[in-house]
Amino acid sequence: MKGVLICGGTGSRLKPLTDITNKSLLPVYNKPLILYPLQVLLDAGIHDIVIISGTEHIDQMAEFLGSGEQYNCNFSFKVQEKPGGIAQALGLAANEYSDDESVCAILGDNVYFDDISDTIKAFSSGAHIFLKEVPDPERFGVAELDGSTVVSIEEKPTQPKSNLAVTGCYIYDKRCFDIIKNLQPSARGELEITDVTKWYLEHGELNASMLQQEWIDAGTFESLHKASVLVREKFI
Ligand code: DAU
Repeated sequence: MKGVLICGGTGSRLKPLTDITNKSLLPVYNKPLILYPLQVLLDAGIHDIVIISGTEHIDQMAEFLGSGEQYNCNFSFKVQEKPGGIAQALGLAANEYSDDESVCAILGDNVYFDDISDTIKAFSSGAHIFLKEVPDPERFGVAELDGSTVVSIEEKPTQPKSNLAVTGCYIYDKRCFDIIKNLQPSARGELEITDVTKWYLEHGELNASMLQQEWIDAGTFESLHKASVLVREKFI
């Protein structure tokens, strides 16, 4: 399995902080944000990792991460020219996949407090996502369950069918790259990761697990701050 760390986008909700650096390099208590999702991949034994970044601040990103030697892994860098969506960003990693390898894609602004490494390691085919109960589901992809089966997923619905956010770690088999090639842009002009996951749902090949601990999408001032507070409380 290879990893993809998705760190493009404009980080517009964190301006002016993101005028000077990539969102994923902003501090979360004592470390840059990106080290948390990176650790999720490393804990799962993934050592080949593609980093997707926008054109801005790519130099800082490469300078900070280096070759991967420091983390006992290999990094390759791909530039997303314009933020055309998370699925478009993931699609840029396609050429790095020569054989039948699956992919664990994780968003560079997500902080997990659960250990999800066993689930990642156990993946064999289809797709797997991680859900978390949140008070503000309209900010996220939202999954509706029937028992433990996902029956629908919607991207940022105005009237969410549940309070279960689809968090930013997606395990897909290699078919995801063909699915992305055939995606149409959404109403907001992006190739949506939710549409990739929906393909697996519609083909009966989507599994989900529920997170038990905190999970943070650190894309706003409030959530970035909360990430720092929780990291200090739980990891230090
Ligand atoms: O955090 C989980 C949520 O992440 C999911 O519940 C949503 O379904 C998913 O769409 C996403 O929503 P966000 O609004 O949080 O996405 P955001 O624009 O903040 O982008 C998330 C990461 O992906 C961020 O690190 C930047 C990167 N990105 C984003 C876009 C739009 C890219 O690399 N390229 C892009 O074109």
